[in-house]
Amino acid sequence: MMRSNRGRSAGKVILIGAGPGDPELMTLKAARALGEADVVLVDDLVNRDVLRFARAGARVIEVGKRCGCKSTPQAFIERLMVRFARRGCIVARLKGGDPFVFGRGGEELAALRAAGVEAEVVSGITSGIAAPAALGIPVTHRDAARGVTLLTGHARDGGEPDWRALRASGTTLVIYMGIARLNAIVAGMLDAGYAPGTPACAVQNGTLAAQKEVVATLGNLAAAVAEARLASPAILVIGEVVRYARVAHVAAVLEHAA
Ligand SMILES: C[S@@+](CC[C@H](N)C(=O)[O-])C[C@H]1O[C@@H](n2cnc3c(N)ncnc32)[C@H](O)[C@@H]1O
Repeated sequence: MMRSNRGRSAGKVILIGAGPGDPELMTLKAARALGEADVVLVDDLVNRDVLRFARAGARVIEVGKRCGCKSTPQAFIERLMVRFARRGCIVARLKGGDPFVFGRGGEELAALRAAGVEAEVVSGITSGIAAPAALGIPVTHRDAARGVTLLTGHARDGGEPDWRALRASGTTLVIYMGIARLNAIVAGMLDAGYAPGTPACAVQNGTLAAQKEVVATLGNLAAAVAEARLASPAILVIGEVVRYARVAHVAAVLEHAA
């Protein structure tokens, strides 16, 4: 049975980052917060194994659908959180990776604040750092990059990033949600002057047992991804740091890459 209103006048919502996939990469704080919740709203990329940290009897509601199905509308999710919190429930909004990295956590926090609902955020390890790390790629290695830029391949306004400015920045590019637009991304980068030999990789299901990856060059990344049948969810990493990948064929693939 669902517990709620445990002597509280109002509930609250905790936006929790569940980490990139491997349940051991969920933080202690996230596991504790999940264990306090009466209601758990789960996004599709969250590994269901982390629900072992939820309280027995907590109500678990799936609010994301993949496989080409329509996602639960964002406004509906926000209304649901507000409704349960107003009933006095502790609501865990469980998201893949970190709630504030391409996770709509900012929008949800704003909606909760606007509704006068108490809200907390528990950070998670984002897939854009953890998936490359699973291959041994240090995204900010100081010998190879000035920093890292996190990008989406699927911007809300449909626009392209300023690839020239990104090239000039000397940062590693980590691209979320980029697989479906890989050809356009590569074309835009080559157009902006990135060398075709720039080291690049794609990691699907990073940190999970189902992890798959390819290491290639920018010029042949799309072909390598297609050949390996990599699909979403995947992270793209572009830059010299990819040379640090501990993947059997990396030296041969990148040996002559300029
Ligand atoms: C809506 S974004 C959510 C990102 C999430 N908030 C984070 O911090 O990792 C979904 C995208 O994250 C990336 N992603 C999430 N989990 C992943 C994983 N285990 N391996 C590779 N990419 C992942 C993929 O690019 C996927 O399309």
